Amino acid sequence: MRLLPAETGHAIALRGLSAGLGPHERADDFPVLAQDICGLHFANPVAVSAGFDKNGVAITGARHLGGGFVEIGGVTPNPQAGNPKPRLFRLTEDNAAINRMGFNNEGCAAVLARVRAARDGSTPLGVNLAANSDSEDPALDFISLVENFAPAADFLTIDVSCPNSANGQVFLEPRALEDLLSRLNTACEASGAKPAMFAKLTPDLEDAHLYELLEIIRTAKIDALTLCNTTTARPDTLRSENVSQRGGLSGAPLFEMANEMLRKVYAHTGGDIPLIGVGGIMSDQDAYTKIRAGASLVQLYTGLVYKGPGLVQQIKRGIAERLTRDGHAHLRDAIGSEHSLNAAR
Ligand SMILES: Cc1cc2nc3c(=O)[nH]c(=O)nc-3n(C[C@H](O)[C@H](O)[C@H](O)COP(=O)(O)O)c2cc1C
Repeated sequence: MRLLPAETGHAIALRGLSAGLGPHERADDFPVLAQDICGLHFANPVAVSAGFDKNGVAITGARHLGGGFVEIGGVTPNPQAGNPKPRLFRLTEDNAAINRMGFNNEGCAAVLARVRAARDGSTPLGVNLAANSDSEDPALDFISLVENFAPAADFLTIDVSCPNSANGQVFLEPRALEDLLSRLNTACEASGAKPAMFAKLTPDLEDAHLYELLEIIRTAKIDALTLCNTTTARPDTLRSENVSQRGGLSGAPLFEMANEMLRKVYAHTGGDIPLIGVGGIMSDQDAYTKIRAGASLVQLYTGLVYKGPGLVQQIKRGIAERLTRDGHAHLRDAIGSEHSLNAAR
């Protein structure tokens, strides 16, 4: 698959997954990993992150990878072609990728039908939401998406962090975010449904900006934060020729940057809002590092490209083993444990 252009390889992998190829693992095979958070039951904390299955064509296949939840999307109200190809690049020497997909997706109506058909009360099913890039009122896009998906999904992720679309980061402006989240709360209440609401942030934020957004997010009663999306930064360590491609960098070079953000946010919030750690997970050790830094749940995308779909199961097993090794009776005892250890020192 890795000999093919990156986007072709991905399309084939997704088709295979939706056809039932790939692993067939259970989600609940390590009881020590189960948690109830945000009003949902997570049999384990691992999942594939948004962007892998933008249209929800492989929800059952994704469940079979053995993760504790599924997030599809990003979905926009209207179908959208995304940016011109090529727009996804492997950085093989760096275990990384750069993408500027630009929210290519089939739009709300097509995806909503698949979400309705796939929701079966097993693993929580969430939809990642985004505004159309040609929308003149991106807040209205989010409102219409929430109205549509709230009754159909277990959680919704408000993605305000995409670096590859015209409206991808407009809600990083604090007043705009405040207004958006308040309108989304109203829309959610009006729908009569109560999905958990997550927000996804970019690692490319100055501290003062990040803390300002955090206050708004907490006041708006967002249930969890997904940290983080891809970065437009290009660390000096990158060696692959594709380093000069425009777009968001994901994979191993994002790991430390994402962890630093996770640590900051966990310390700042005192651990009172669940965090979903994403960015650069290539192994079970990486996932465990994020949990100790403060993540209640973890997600990965680029790691799957390099390590294959068995990585989800490997991570679950590795976390369970590490919990025993470190004397933790349950996953919840390890979340943020790095901070209490530092404080004790
Ligand atoms: C090709 C590609 C498409 C993506 N599309 C989305 C998206 O639509 N919405 C979103 O919130 N994140 C999207 N992401 C970001 C991932 O969900 C994740 O936050 C990021 O890749 C970092 O994780 P990783 O290092 O494990 O890949 C995308 C990433 C890639 C590589």
